[in-house]
Amino acid sequence: MCGIIGYTGNRELINILTDGLKRLEYRGYDSAGLAVVNNQQLQVFKTKGKVKALEERLHDHLQLLSTASVGIAHTRWATHGEPNEANAHPHLDNAGHFAVVHNGIIDNFAELRNRLLDQGCRFASETDSEVLAHLVAQYYDGNLLEAVASALKQVKGTFGIAVIARDLPQTIVTARRGSPIVIGVGAGETLIASDVTALAAHTDRVIYLNDDDIALVTPETIDIRSLENVPVSREIAALDWDISAAEKNGYDHFMLKEIFEQPQAVSNTIRGRLDFRTATAALSGLNLTPRELAMINRIVIAACGTSMHAGMVGEYYFEDIVGISTEVEQAAEFRYRNPIIEPHTLVLAISQSGETADTLAAVREGLNKGAVVAAICNVVGATIPRESNRGIYLHAGPEIGVASTKAFTCQVTALLLTALLFGRNRRLSQTAGLELIEEIQQIPTLIQQVLDHADKIEIIAKKYADAKDCFFIGRGNLYPAALEGALKLKEISYIHAEGYHAAELKHGPIALLDKGVPVIALANDVPGKEKILSNIQECLARKSPVIATATNNDTSVSHLVHDVITIPSCSAFVAPIPTVVALQLFSYYVAKERGCEIDQPRNLAKSVTVE
Ligand code: M6R
Repeated sequence: MCGIIGYTGNRELINILTDGLKRLEYRGYDSAGLAVVNNQQLQVFKTKGKVKALEERLHDHLQLLSTASVGIAHTRWATHGEPNEANAHPHLDNAGHFAVVHNGIIDNFAELRNRLLDQGCRFASETDSEVLAHLVAQYYDGNLLEAVASALKQVKGTFGIAVIARDLPQTIVTARRGSPIVIGVGAGETLIASDVTALAAHTDRVIYLNDDDIALVTPETIDIRSLENVPVSREIAALDWDISAAEKNGYDHFMLKEIFEQPQAVSNTIRGRLDFRTATAALSGLNLTPRELAMINRIVIAACGTSMHAGMVGEYYFEDIVGISTEVEQAAEFRYRNPIIEPHTLVLAISQSGETADTLAAVREGLNKGAVVAAICNVVGATIPRESNRGIYLHAGPEIGVASTKAFTCQVTALLLTALLFGRNRRLSQTAGLELIEEIQQIPTLIQQVLDHADKIEIIAKKYADAKDCFFIGRGNLYPAALEGALKLKEISYIHAEGYHAAELKHGPIALLDKGVPVIALANDVPGKEKILSNIQECLARKSPVIATATNNDTSVSHLVHDVITIPSCSAFVAPIPTVVALQLFSYYVAKERGCEIDQPRNLAKSVTVE
């Protein structure tokens, strides 16, 4: 959580910093701040709220700040200390010599803070991060890189940090452990940021720092070392990033744009990965020989949130298509539960951002225990795919809306491709492989057919926008779709929404049903439909209004329920994809009707880089 950007060079830097912060706002947006070195002084501006508020604060000072040559900035997602101006970053030492921005959590901050208090430091905030500024000041004897390294050696926890000093008008020291830092290499200028979205407007050459790397950057130089002060070499990667992909392009919200991008995004996930000759999927990034594939005897999927729901759909694929025992782990549980991992276990980490702390920890645990570890990820070069060493990129393009949409449909598509590959390596016949390929090829069209009826979904959504509670129920691989529908609705509309297996409803939750509690039943024409029709009757008997997803013109559903969202006819394997697209639209229009901040819901951040 939290976004960091820094700039050193000869251009006016305030706009560079605030524009960068806006692109990082999806990482947190409860306060923002920046510090620059100007005439051998640190100048610091902070506000509660979004970057826009910071811009307003800066407005009258732009002339004064135009001569600054180095600066760092931060947008915050609060962990320690409420979102207010005092807790906003940057934080300074008591002499006002150093400014620090930090993304991560310092686990031993209480111990460090008490020690610093005993030594006479005064604290201006309740944050864990502030200890870093005081520690840097204690260790500084003219070498900023060494002082920051010494400070960081005291720290347990995670950090992506940037530090400037008032007597160093062109220098930033940056370092990472657990929280990402990318360096942007420009002509006569250098930038640092939490991710490439903040850099892409300025450079197409980037360096990803590894954990425990520390770097001193100036406009012309980049010196990267280990925390032990040993020089390390990190290659410059080309950034293939279309900056317009991170704009709204006429849509009211990123979320809506990303929903409508799904036919293209899924096509990008599929492109070049279908091998018709052998009726399989070509997933070279997995880097597994047919023999190695055949040896895998168990799959553990580790992920969080929407990515976990995609993984739950994948579990059906691997067990049904491949016949391989598969389980889905909430990634946070994985390493604490002491999971049984054998050499032929595949740990499949799924993450849109590739930076989710719990999923990253699961990757590391899997590697430590000798598993084959692969990642399904969207953000190229993120930590999870880099550490996994093998995997599948989604190529969905940047997902900016905090509510994950196109990542889900692309993840499920990637999982189906993976199941096709594994299946053909085992029990799936050539004919069955070709049938699956045909189904995969239809996914973009199926999504488009749902999008073409967005106006009808909007009308239904508006009818239910006043609900206080809501249930989503499904069976089979539409059960994870129900969980995903509930997650979407609650996170952007703040309606209390629960996803349940339809059979589980009568084991307790049915007690909550009445005429004020709508139920969204996923009643597509797939195996299990008859049973969900009975579950719908149970809800109707408790007076709940029922909205159902149903396959084209399925009167067995439409005659029963209050409203129907039509899903095009498709196989049971791909059904969760168009169904979830419909639920994304439903949630979006409910939230819009309620006037919610759709792209940046309260209390959330796009990338959860803390445990
Ligand atoms: O980047 P990741 O896919 O690892 O993120 C996992 C979750 O934090 C994420 O899916 C979250 O649940 C979304 N806000 C859901 O819309």
